[in-house]
Amino acid sequence: MTMDPAVSLGRGLVLPNPVGVASGTFGYGFEAERMGPIAHLGAVYSKGTTLLPREGNRPPRISETSAGMLNSIGLQNPGVEVVARDYAPRWREWSVPVVVNVAGAGITEYVEVCERLSDVAGVAGLELNISCPNISHGMDFGTDPKRAKALVEAVRRVTELPLIVKLTPNVTDITEVGRAVEDGGADAISAVNTYLGMKISVKERKPVLPGMGTAGLSGPAIKPLALAAVAKLRRAVELPLIGIGGIGSTEDALEYLVAGADAIQIGTANFYRPGVSAEVLSGLIQFATDNSLQSWRDLRWSD
Ligand code: SIN
Repeated sequence: MTMDPAVSLGRGLVLPNPVGVASGTFGYGFEAERMGPIAHLGAVYSKGTTLLPREGNRPPRISETSAGMLNSIGLQNPGVEVVARDYAPRWREWSVPVVVNVAGAGITEYVEVCERLSDVAGVAGLELNISCPNISHGMDFGTDPKRAKALVEAVRRVTELPLIVKLTPNVTDITEVGRAVEDGGADAISAVNTYLGMKISVKERKPVLPGMGTAGLSGPAIKPLALAAVAKLRRAVELPLIGIGGIGSTEDALEYLVAGADAIQIGTANFYRPGVSAEVLSGLIQFATDNSLQSWRDLRWSD
């Protein structure tokens, strides 16, 4: 292949290729590293990390649906101190960039977590999670453009790290929030987090996942919806876009690149086919070679 597969997400964050693994589907990378090679990845996006450790919602927390999966994890994580002190030094030895997904209950918490991670070697960037549907305040910023902008501005003031914002699709117009975070100083956008969903047990006459009752839907079921969100964002913002939602094959990844994504994240498919990211990457490279692409952007839909 003559084309350079690398992708720039801004502020010096250059991924070796567009294929990353989505937050919440790969932990902090260490279990996956024991299961098989991960050096091929363009990026690892870590589990959502908060200031203090969280145990998450009470189980069960995952349930299969037709063509998808519902999760209600509730941001279980060890807290930023463990991530900065114990995990980052291990990431420093990896060739794969690790982007830490950051969540918080308010601006102060986001700022403190991002500040703590700022000068930590091994952290390549931050992905602000303003889109978790499984805790009461998880989407407060993602559903309000003004608050989203204020949050990004506040975090921008305390870090020079590349700042990606992960948007929720659970809004009327995702482009309003996309423009707001662009104005606030974000470097890139991840689109999208899970769709609000629910599964009911008729026998028990209650939701299957007890956390909030509702949960986050991912997997093939959401791909057409998420693709539409990415295509709309592409026409609204200049920032690099990372497409997420139901990607389980090379064809799926190509669809996102055509819709306007610069990079992609594989999520739910990691659970049922752990080797999927390597397959998708080699499929993309084969496609680029067969079609003499000069850049992934050659694939973009333009009208
Ligand atoms: C969770 O931990 O509940 C999922 C995280 C997310 O949706 O961002």
